[in-house]
Amino acid sequence: MNAILPGAPWLVAHRSMLGINKPYKITLNNCDYVIWQNSQGKIFALENVCPHMQAPLSNGWICQTHSSITCPFHALEFNGEGKLVKDGEPKGEAIANALDLIVQDDLIWTYGIFEPRLPIPNLISERTKGFNFVDITGSKSIQASFFNSIRINYDFNHQNGVHHDIFRIRDNPVQSFDSDGYYAKVIQTFLRENNTLNEILQNPSLLNLPKQIVNELEYSFPCITLFKAKISLGEILQFFILYPETENKTRTFVILYGNWCNPMMKIPGLRFLIERSLLKATAKVVEQDYTTVESLYPQQEPKIRLPREEIMFYVQKLYHEW
Ligand code: FES
Ligand SMILES: [Fe+2]
Repeated sequence: MNAILPGAPWLVAHRSMLGINKPYKITLNNCDYVIWQNSQGKIFALENVCPHMQAPLSNGWICQTHSSITCPFHALEFNGEGKLVKDGEPKGEAIANALDLIVQDDLIWTYGIFEPRLPIPNLISERTKGFNFVDITGSKSIQASFFNSIRINYDFNHQNGVHHDIFRIRDNPVQSFDSDGYYAKVIQTFLRENNTLNEILQNPSLLNLPKQIVNELEYSFPCITLFKAKISLGEILQFFILYPETENKTRTFVILYGNWCNPMMKIPGLRFLIERSLLKATAKVVEQDYTTVESLYPQQEPKIRLPREEIMFYVQKLYHEW
């Protein structure tokens, strides 16, 4: 397989996804890796292949004392540099391949095996000042190429189709689109129809969504799409993250942050329920997007064009000219 966008920075996990002293497996550009975090918050990563007889290290376990990983096959132990650990001490040269990580606060970035071609974007750290981390939602391995998966985030004609169910979006006019290299910003408005009682009962957070919502989207190609919305509870930031697992599989997850101004959100139990409902609604958006993407037939030359497709052509150009 040819690597997808070699040299791009990929956000492969948020710290909260790792747990403590637990192997966490990821696949990036056709390579499997294992990541783990010790109780002091230090994070380690190796290629997932045991250098003895190629067992997947992620099926093994973490030694809390040495912060090392033990292979599930013959119980050899490796530290985060890939050195064999014997009697509690690392021995000799590294024999398992380490994966270089760049950990910025709670965000775990990597370039995989490639030389960096773009710096790590600071969009998340800059926009989340004054916000609280809510949780991760919508984690999914999409059975579709990276390009098809990213394209829907730049498609400003899909909301009234894909998100018609539940969110009842009937139109989403775009007020502005500005781009500067790998960064882009879009202002759009969602115009919604009324929800049915049944939909509200299933997703109470729909009550917080007005009939007309002005959204701001910011993009840091290729990894991040930020969706910002002001709702009656306050402000919400959804970072939609994507990275290529293989040629036909793409990983996504959403990091949700909130800045609540509504006094209701000061009541802990209520806040918890509302936040869960928001996470659920976000996961639904992800599911709607990627069920559609997974259902597409192979791409052909479109025989019809819609307005606002220039935003999609922008990402198409960045991808193909990488
Ligand atoms: S395969 Fe890992 S210890 Fe033998
Ligand atoms: Fe969507």
